[in-house]
Amino acid sequence: MQVIVCDQPDEATELAANEILAALEKKPDLVLGLATGSTPIGIYSRLVRAHQEDKVDFSRVRTFNLDEFVGPPSDHPRSYRSFMRKHLFDGVNVNEGNIHFPPVEGPALRDKCRDFEATIRDAGGIDIQILGIGRNGHIGFNEPTSSLASRTRIKTLTEKTLLDNSRFDREKDSTQKLAPTLAATAGIGTILDARRIMLQAFGRAKAEAVRVSIEGPISSFWPGSALQLHDDVTFYLDLESSALLTMVDYYRQVRKNAQELEERGLM
Ligand code: GLP
Repeated sequence: MQVIVCDQPDEATELAANEILAALEKKPDLVLGLATGSTPIGIYSRLVRAHQEDKVDFSRVRTFNLDEFVGPPSDHPRSYRSFMRKHLFDGVNVNEGNIHFPPVEGPALRDKCRDFEATIRDAGGIDIQILGIGRNGHIGFNEPTSSLASRTRIKTLTEKTLLDNSRFDREKDSTQKLAPTLAATAGIGTILDARRIMLQAFGRAKAEAVRVSIEGPISSFWPGSALQLHDDVTFYLDLESSALLTMVDYYRQVRKNAQELEERGLM
């Protein structure tokens, strides 16, 4: 586990976006696991800029979103499909057929969730999974007490998550209000299968979730703590979200050493 603490969220976002662009250069048919929420918007706007200014090609990229609400139509302004269109898909030349979301339309949702997993496997697995984290430690929509081995399935959202989500409703007029209580989400096991995981968390509200995810015991009560089981995960933090960590000096030293080894050509 690598922990990168930046003075500002922008700096952390720049690092994460640059890593994705470098991976894309090496592997044009990169398989990306995508997250929604306000946190990854900065990454997406940098990818869009790179496509528009530097002609970075997304035509062979495959994407798998983590989650989607059950209930609202896919073109509802609050659906995660709409979110992704607005912040990424409409700005790059990703192929419509290469975009995947967990299933939210029945019948046979359980079977369709299995198919979603199979589609990820057929694509060769996720190369880079982008993640945010909820205040209660959820990743994707894996709420507290989700099995650490869970796969794609339908989850009931907690009150805390519903409350956090309602802030988006306030931005819209009343006819567009939405209060979904169910969502389809990739499981914690699905997330842990990704080859590389990049989690970003910014702001004081995330500090407790960040602390337990990195330094706390592994527990289904804090789903982010399952990431301790992954061998290639990086937390990109700002000063506020890292405020409760007890070993920040050590994480800074680890990063400095890694950079030195890199410069000396030893890595
Ligand atoms: C939602 C998403 C998560 C996201 C979380 C945090 O619940 N399902 O994937 O990490 O919100 O959102 P934000 O980045 O806006 O704090």
